[in-house]
Amino acid sequence: MTQRRPLIAGNWKMHQNVAATSALLEGLAAQRLSDEVDVVVCPPFTSLPNAAMLLAGSTIGLGAQNCHWENSGAFTGEVAPSMLVERGVEWVIIGHSERRTIFGESDITAARRAKAAQEAGLKVIYCVGETLEQRQTEQTYSVLEAQTAGVADLDPTQLVVAYEPVWAIGTGQTATVDQAQEAHAFLRRRLEGFFSSGAESIRILYGGSMKPGNAVELVGMPDVDGGLIGGASLDADSFSAIIRASAECAAGV
Ligand code: PGA
Repeated sequence: MTQRRPLIAGNWKMHQNVAATSALLEGLAAQRLSDEVDVVVCPPFTSLPNAAMLLAGSTIGLGAQNCHWENSGAFTGEVAPSMLVERGVEWVIIGHSERRTIFGESDITAARRAKAAQEAGLKVIYCVGETLEQRQTEQTYSVLEAQTAGVADLDPTQLVVAYEPVWAIGTGQTATVDQAQEAHAFLRRRLEGFFSSGAESIRILYGGSMKPGNAVELVGMPDVDGGLIGGASLDADSFSAIIRASAECAAGV
């Protein structure tokens, strides 16, 4: 079985202005992080240049939370992938459920954004996940199937998938380890169907109220390769505790 290196990514959403970004990154720099885990933080757009400066020379990667599929043009309110690269950004979250439910992101636009991001040299964290109603009406797997259709066109070596059940995001309600593993295994099979090689190496993150207290059991599941963390990534102590918990899983402690 391929040993996948865990990835813990912090999705700061619309939190952390420039001053708060500096404070949080200084807090993280003061923590003992792990060499066994890849770490990425995704501040809001306006905090990216400051974060890039503070993270220069650090092992923490920098990500944005969205990007457009064109590199310039009349797209009011959007940011081009090349503009992110220009600011030292290496990763981008695409298709987050808040983009889908609040801002009308579709599977088609998410796939276009992801493709353009990779073409510009960004690594993509591609988010999928069902709503509570979809889970209760047994549509989870058809939803995940539709949401991942565009992934087939992506470069698997520059791709991470995040399974984020919408009902678990910011609610304090986490998927059980069995629910998470089952969804991740489904996604792994889907990726295997798309890519003749390399699917085994794609990391699938769990997102939805991951905290220091549940990280070990979640990341300990065979197909859970880390987390996309919202609320708990805004506190240096809890984010670093999740990173350490994932390192324990990687080391098989
Ligand atoms: P949460 O958010 O950890 O606050 O549930 C996760 C996410 O939306 O990526």
